[in-house]
Amino acid sequence: MKASFQATSLLILFFLQLPNHLIVSRRLTKPQPTPTPWPKQFHALLYMNLSSTHLQLSDLWYDWPKGRNVNIFQKQLDVVLYDIEWNNGTSFYYTVGEDAQCSVVDFGVGIPRPDFLDGAQYLGRVVTDGFLCDLWEKIDFIWYYEDVITKRPVRWDFFDGISSHVMTWEVDAVLPDSVVQAPEYCFTKIVDRNLFSA
Ligand SMILES: *[C@@H]1O[C@H](CO)[C@@H](O)[C@H](O)[C@H]1NC(C)=O
Ligand SMILES: *[C@@H]1O[C@H](CO)[C@@H](O)[C@H](O)[C@H]1NC(C)=O
Repeated sequence: MKASFQATSLLILFFLQLPNHLIVSRRLTKPQPTPTPWPKQFHALLYMNLSSTHLQLSDLWYDWPKGRNVNIFQKQLDVVLYDIEWNNGTSFYYTVGEDAQCSVVDFGVGIPRPDFLDGAQYLGRVVTDGFLCDLWEKIDFIWYYEDVITKRPVRWDFFDGISSHVMTWEVDAVLPDSVVQAPEYCFTKIVDRNLFSA
């Protein structure tokens, strides 16, 4: 349980960067849909059901040009946890306010590329969350549901049981730099890593 939150993040970062030739290719009889690449910059509000069945909201701010992926998690009836991931492999996890905590982790890999779903295997059409979606799976790691009409993602699930449901999807939205500046105590204080477990 301890540090499992970070372990999950590491796996996500790792698997999404595997080269596509590792994907089992199938002989296709007709052209199949491919996932729409992520916009270079977007903001999404996610409703997440964790493997523990605890719930959280996430403000996801993906920014490929700036080389950062930000999740601001509102844990149900609990803390707000900032997760600032940089393309150089460093991630900052911190809370603010009373009893603020911070943990700095070097994952050694960067954020997902906009085309991280390239090479995913098409599984067909399904209805999820009330939307007709195309569904892909990549290396038994992520199941990705995209609206057939609008091509927006509706949901993605990770192998470990975490599911994310896309509530808003704002292409080109950018988080101000001031929000992602890690607080001073990230560089000075010893942390309680328990805080950051899923
Ligand atoms: C969360 O996921 C679990 C396991 O799939 C499911 O049983 C539960 O109903 C879900 N809870 C919510 C609120 O979606
Ligand atoms: C990665 O980039 C962030 C943001 O610019 C910086 O705070 C961090 O120290 C960098 N990490 C390394 C290992 O250079």
